[in-house]
Amino acid sequence: MTLLSARNLTVEINAVPIVDGIDLDLASGEALGIVGESGSGKTMTALALIGLTPPAATIRADTLTIAGNDVLALDPRQRRALGGSVMSMVFQDPMTGLNPVRSIGSLLIEAIRRHQTIDAARARQLGLQALADVGIPDPVARFSAYPHELSGGMRQRVMIALALVNRPALIIADEPTTALDATIQAQILELMRARMRDAALILITHDLGVAAELCGRIAVMYHGRIVEEAPVADLLARPAHPYTCGLLTAVPRFDPARPRLMPIPGAPLPASERLPGCAFAPRCPRARDICRAQVPALAEIASGRKVACHFPEAVA
Ligand SMILES: Nc1ncnc2c1ncn2[C@@H]1O[C@H](COP(=O)(O)OP(=O)(O)OP(=O)(O)O)[C@@H](O)[C@H]1O
Ligand SMILES: [Mg+2]
Repeated sequence: MTLLSARNLTVEINAVPIVDGIDLDLASGEALGIVGESGSGKTMTALALIGLTPPAATIRADTLTIAGNDVLALDPRQRRALGGSVMSMVFQDPMTGLNPVRSIGSLLIEAIRRHQTIDAARARQLGLQALADVGIPDPVARFSAYPHELSGGMRQRVMIALALVNRPALIIADEPTTALDATIQAQILELMRARMRDAALILITHDLGVAAELCGRIAVMYHGRIVEEAPVADLLARPAHPYTCGLLTAVPRFDPARPRLMPIPGAPLPASERLPGCAFAPRCPRARDICRAQVPALAEIASGRKVACHFPEAVA
């Protein structure tokens, strides 16, 4: 069943398209990874999907629905009613998502009782379990703590606990494990994988390895657009877009056969700058005249594989 559908989703700030006409589809049980350089528009895309962009931003879409709800038509009360149960977001900055004047326990109990008709004692039990699930030691002691009393990694885990506690149909997680050490990261990924059996996930990350662990499909963003979308194994084995190729050779790996990291030369184009052609052309080893003259459309090049490039790598 289609859970999320976005067509021609655009977010503009001061007439600059930060997200530039992207399409996304997600079915229940599916996990989509969104990767791409810092500033490529990943967070803004996530915020737009749940209708939570900053006040200066204008969101437009031909279609934007989550579980049949027209996201852009929701008023704040309706949006709150969906938050937590239908969709929930793990924010990149954990302080954004945690009310600083409320204890961890009261945040959890309130979130639980907003969606479940149970008494306070039972809600407390579920809240403590949610903290234990994300690997927080001594949940009883943490229950009365305030967000600023916790370390960054601990706050991140509280955010994840809050996002998962009502078992939402769609989880959007923006760099959920970046602040965590490797063992906790593995534990969180395992927890998210377990929850994925009955939910859909959009995972935004810099880390292609993390995306590959959890996601069936990956969308690669560059300069506000999706430049490649593919099943994860295909993308890793045979990337089609020169930017994706660059991204893969820039990932650190324990591979003695390939001892050197290959950074992508040049710098990303600032969001405020538009080119008549492909935004990656100035850094692209394959760029020719047409690349500088005409923006390539995202087109299907093989079953399930799309790329926005005039000269993609062969994938067959
Ligand atoms: N509130 C804002 N006002 C103006 N511009 C903004 C605002 N928030 C983000 N931007 C701009 O939008 C662009 C995309 O930002 P976004 O946060 O979506 O990037 P990102 O891909 O999530 O990057 P990162 O990997 O660093 O988290 C950037 O150029 C950023 O400067
Ligand atoms: Mg971001």
